[in-house]
Amino acid sequence: MRKLFIKTYGCQMNVYDSGRMADLLAPLGYGMVASPEDADMVILNTCHIREKAAEKVYSELGRLRALKDAKAAAGGKMLIAVAGCVAQAEGAQIVARQPAVDMVVGPQSYHRLPEMIARVTRGSEAVLETEFPVEEKFDLLPEENISRGASAFLTVQEGCDKFCTFCVVPYTRGAEFSRPPEDIEKEARRLVQSGVREVTLLGQNVNAYRADGRDGKVWGLAQLIRRLAEIRGLDRLRYTTSHPRDMDDELIAVHGEIEKLMPYLHLPVQSGSDRVLAAMNRQHSREDYFQLVERIRATRKDIALSSDFIVGFPGETDKDFEDTMDLVRRVVFAGAYSFKYSPRPGTPASTERQLPEDIKNERLQALQAILFEQQSAFNKSCEGKAFSILFEKPGRKEAQAVGRSPYLQPVHVDGALPLIGKLREVRIAAALPNSLKGVLVEAEPRVRAEELAR
Ligand code: SAH
Ligand code: SF4
Ligand code: F3S
Repeated sequence: MRKLFIKTYGCQMNVYDSGRMADLLAPLGYGMVASPEDADMVILNTCHIREKAAEKVYSELGRLRALKDAKAAAGGKMLIAVAGCVAQAEGAQIVARQPAVDMVVGPQSYHRLPEMIARVTRGSEAVLETEFPVEEKFDLLPEENISRGASAFLTVQEGCDKFCTFCVVPYTRGAEFSRPPEDIEKEARRLVQSGVREVTLLGQNVNAYRADGRDGKVWGLAQLIRRLAEIRGLDRLRYTTSHPRDMDDELIAVHGEIEKLMPYLHLPVQSGSDRVLAAMNRQHSREDYFQLVERIRATRKDIALSSDFIVGFPGETDKDFEDTMDLVRRVVFAGAYSFKYSPRPGTPASTERQLPEDIKNERLQALQAILFEQQSAFNKSCEGKAFSILFEKPGRKEAQAVGRSPYLQPVHVDGALPLIGKLREVRIAAALPNSLKGVLVEAEPRVRAEELAR
């Protein structure tokens, strides 16, 4: 067996891609290992969304070079590949700055990896593939052959045409592209056969999903979800990430129809200020967001929402930030990610005048405090309730297993170790800020009906 180490940064799409790269390389004799020491091939699957992302990749590559040299001194060979969004953005510069790199492969070219490995092994030149032939990628990737556990990602859409002024994704992932529904259904069925119970449909803009079906019809995400919900053994569906603009009536309606669609929706708003939303080119107002949330909640009462926020966007005033705080207080989120704005080279907002760092820090702290409060309160509100939990992995304590609630909260349950891969009713006994403790309902002492009647 050859040893393959993949380090994954960034979004779930990269997690999915890393899995597919492992599938692709398995027939060549590569098996996954947990550390880069002594690996025959190392792939860094990189993300370009944060500041200094590329610099961090270069310092990681410096460390890998030492491992590669050590391996060469011992008579072995280590191949180093840089994949993902930094590979797409930096291209040939990567090899120029770090000659130990053998391959640079953009997110749309992973199917070329075996051929790239062959070329590198034959010659001494580094090999680059950073074109955008997006349709090819999915057609040419092999069927997945490595087990995905109980919950799996499935990419249905890639790329983004929205061009928010802060974001690199439209440049690193290219234009929106949706996979044919038939291919997605086949992949979902294979995942279920391999033991997957929950599928999360992925896309940078997943609710912009629009594909021509072989039935001659145009499929949206709502139709796709309806179809996938028919698959027996597929018990839970989720989708992420959605753009508020693309949340249409039909998709909202599906939340009321499809029991398997989990009542938890990630709907990034970024800011609560109309001025900032316009400067970000988000193409919706705060009022649009309020109305959207209202319609979603009217359709599915037990739904909970999460979001992404950026504070300290260029030109954001105290009043703008107060509008964001106000939006958070009005909507009430069950969870959220929040970030300080950081300029990404090549994006329109990066050339604007930046706010001072201490203002960004102050605002981030204030926002995170209220978001944390809301998350804790949401977790607290789960105490005493029974949910169906999908057990995914062993817990830290003996015989314990950790599963996910419908709201993606990690739930620790004693004695649940044999239930990994299964769904069970669990009553929430205690809420911690970032996780829950639960008890299997089947293990609860039962009060018999006749005792109750007495
Ligand atoms: N496609 C998704 C997510 C894109 S990236 C969407 O449309 O929401 C994930 C999150 O990173 C974004 O939602 C945003 O909050 C954050 N982000 C992206 N670019 C950023 C930047 N330049 N500075 C700070 N945060 C950023
Ligand atoms: Fe980036 Fe905006 Fe596209 Fe999301 S919608 S990926 S934030 S450009
Ligand atoms: Fe990062 Fe690329 Fe995803 S920039 S967030 S890995 S699409």
